[in-house]
Amino acid sequence: MATLEIKSLFNPSGTRDLRAQRLIGGPSVNLLEFAHCKYSWAEQLYRKMRSFFWIPDEIPSAEDKQQFPTLTVAEQEAYKKTLAFLIFLDSIQVDNLGVLAQYITAPEVTACIKTQAFFETIHAQSYDYLLTSVVDSLTREAVYDLWRNDPRLLSRIRFITDQYEAFIWEPSPEHLIKSVVANFLLEGIYFYSGFAFFYALGRQDKMGSTVSLIRLIQRDENTHLALFTHIIRGLREENPQWFTPDIMESIAEMINTAVEHEIGWGQYITHNQILGLSDTLIDHYIRYLGNLRAYAIGLPPLYPEATQHPMAWVDDFAAMNSTKTDFFERPVTNYRKAGGSLHFDRLKPPGV
Ligand SMILES: [Fe+2]
Ligand SMILES: [Fe+2]
Repeated sequence: MATLEIKSLFNPSGTRDLRAQRLIGGPSVNLLEFAHCKYSWAEQLYRKMRSFFWIPDEIPSAEDKQQFPTLTVAEQEAYKKTLAFLIFLDSIQVDNLGVLAQYITAPEVTACIKTQAFFETIHAQSYDYLLTSVVDSLTREAVYDLWRNDPRLLSRIRFITDQYEAFIWEPSPEHLIKSVVANFLLEGIYFYSGFAFFYALGRQDKMGSTVSLIRLIQRDENTHLALFTHIIRGLREENPQWFTPDIMESIAEMINTAVEHEIGWGQYITHNQILGLSDTLIDHYIRYLGNLRAYAIGLPPLYPEATQHPMAWVDDFAAMNSTKTDFFERPVTNYRKAGGSLHFDRLKPPGV
């Protein structure tokens, strides 16, 4: 496959003709015009993301600080391990989104990616805020260094960074697609057993400030998921030749791998010892999410046994301040052909 070129910061021979614009390799002058742009969804998404702005340290954490030592040992361990992984996910997004943005030739889409990166900074700061205000300094140090002593965490980190770095070192269309799908899976699957763990604490009226922060973070992650769903759909529409049957199969495999990793991680951090969050529920929940994500990008469900949400209370928590959209309910253009007789009416859209 060819090598993709980093776009020019300013392209004087470009055009403002919207019909000519493309996500990759387009002729944009590279001036940001929200009132005159091809990808109108990006303008709407940018406004929504911007309206979600929040400041982590405005949420009081004193009660969580008092409660943390009263949590069970299993809850404390899961709290620390979950934060260690989420810190990694949000930190890496801050940097890697900039890499992807260098190749996007639609300024309004670049604006969304850069706005997302800003919110990922807020998320990383939120975890830092929790670790400086809720737990003691030794625990904070241990969480930031956990990857050094926890081979499972390290292997997850390596897997994700390898996928991103493949595009950095060899920016081919194939690696672009895989990097974009990796972003989509990070936003749509990797956060979710961690979120469910915090909501399981919330159901017991534990760690209310942490839960409030997580709800705000998940509200943002839904906009990021929508952004990458749009990008994947757009890339496929504009470059059907890139999306060969082999690539589509690779994408399905990526989803399956992400699901397997997230189930393994979720079960590892909770050890089947968190009230309301059994190994079986984690397994079913993450497979259900895998089906939703596959559907959103035009693939048939990977897990026919997991078409129902097994923990509706997770979405009840996540729905705080959410702005419902019909984004995930819109039909996927080629789904009917690909999915045949499968029953998508049983898959509920996520609460975004
Ligand atoms: Fe984030
Ligand atoms: Fe995100």
